Amino acid sequence: MNFTALSQLKQRKPADLLILPFFQKDKQAVPSAHFPEFESLYSLPIGAKDFTGKEGEVLILYVNHKQEKRIALLGLGDPKKLTIEILRRAYAAVTTKSIATKLKSINLVLPTLKGFESKEILSGITEGMLLVNYQFSQLKPETIKSSPVSLIQEICFISSIKPAEVLAIAKKHLVICTAIYLARDLVNGNADDVTPQYLAQFAKHLAKTLPHTQAKILTKKELQKEKMGLLLAVGRGSACDPVLITLSYLGNPKSKEHLVLIGKGVTYDTGGLNMKPTGGMETMKCDMGGAATALCTLHAAATLKLPVNLTVVVPSTENAVSANSFKPGDVYISHSGKSVEIGNTDAEGRLILADALSYAVKKLKPTCLIDFATLTGAIDIALGPEASGLFSNDDRLAAQLFEAGQETFERVWRMPLYPEYRENLKSEIADIKNVGGRSAGSILAALFLSEFVGDIPWAHLDIASTAFLSANRRYHPKFATGIGIRLMIYFLERFKR
Ligand code: BES
Ligand code: ZN
Ligand code: ZN
Repeated sequence: MNFTALSQLKQRKPADLLILPFFQKDKQAVPSAHFPEFESLYSLPIGAKDFTGKEGEVLILYVNHKQEKRIALLGLGDPKKLTIEILRRAYAAVTTKSIATKLKSINLVLPTLKGFESKEILSGITEGMLLVNYQFSQLKPETIKSSPVSLIQEICFISSIKPAEVLAIAKKHLVICTAIYLARDLVNGNADDVTPQYLAQFAKHLAKTLPHTQAKILTKKELQKEKMGLLLAVGRGSACDPVLITLSYLGNPKSKEHLVLIGKGVTYDTGGLNMKPTGGMETMKCDMGGAATALCTLHAAATLKLPVNLTVVVPSTENAVSANSFKPGDVYISHSGKSVEIGNTDAEGRLILADALSYAVKKLKPTCLIDFATLTGAIDIALGPEASGLFSNDDRLAAQLFEAGQETFERVWRMPLYPEYRENLKSEIADIKNVGGRSAGSILAALFLSEFVGDIPWAHLDIASTAFLSANRRYHPKFATGIGIRLMIYFLERFKR
């Protein structure tokens, strides 16, 4: 992606499309600025009510102009109701349409809006456009041969903000969205390709290319030495060995603050011996979505050189079926020393996360712990795809994450950790059981995790309903979304120094 910035419409270079934003007043479109050279063109569809300026409405007109062949009239709706999220959606819509017609370069005039700073507007617009400028085509080589991927390659912003500032803001969002594309690629990739070993290599590669970043991989032998009994148990049925990946970015060596981000890295979840049925398994390559979010958040944070200390821990394994699989009814000893009765091998995420959490608490001295996990189907029943489930033992941390969710529109909704439900996880034969019935399923999973974090400020984000979608959703494509990265970067930019 190539960005340019100008301060006047007449300075612009030729492009495939010029986007002109409109508001809606009295059910009629009104231009957000004065565009005398195009007035005669857009007055026709406005007069005919073919274009009314409502939110996200796009009308492409072919014009005979020396700079562009097309102009897109873009509706932003009622100016009084406008939000940054509406801008994201509207500019995503016009970008999606542009990609579909294989356009490559866009000139756009930044609208000025009462109540919003120009920089916020620029941010929202850039995010919306970049988030849809993605295609996953690695697995259809023949289709791509006959119809190659075509994405937007050039955006020229025309605004009253200083060009250097425009470029700095746009580039920051490009860094974040590049990390999101990477996370989507990891999740969309074949489970047979994106194995625990692949994730380990990916982390090592990040350590080589990013500033102040180091990777450490614990292999099966080392996991045995560390007594990671739960991660080893889940990994037993797979042809690939489990690993524990640690990737650290030291962006503020003088500070004692240290955020540890943990990501569930189940590269394929068959359910284990409590096997998932047809219909429940086909999307389970997405079960390393938390790992992708955590690793790619570090990618963005280190590239942006954020002044924070961040360590990512990813327990990674397949949950497979074999003669060697771990068994329902058996008891395994966790890294923390607590024994766990396996009520269901499909509740494997909480097992590997438990070992990662207690390892992080013991070895990494975190001042704050956040985990991302595609943990329960029940969170989709509770919240659906509009929000991730947030569980926390710390009101301040929960409030900060909630705010980050509202601002980025990667919304999170706080769920309770009622101690009364802890009863359901009681085992007669072990210290704790990994399941406790269908009722309050997501809360039980979070309560299970809470047993392994001690009293460190901790938040758990259940992203099972937001990390992987069954249909396009505004600027999120079908399949992997890369959710959580924009949320975390917003959070990290405000993290205690
Ligand atoms: N990976 C699944 C959760 C999941 C479901 C992620 C749907 C994405 C979409 C998890 O390991 C799982 O299977 N959880 C079980 C827990 C149950 C056995 C207590 C579930 O949600 O059914
Ligand atoms: Zn499972
Ligand atoms: Zn799982």
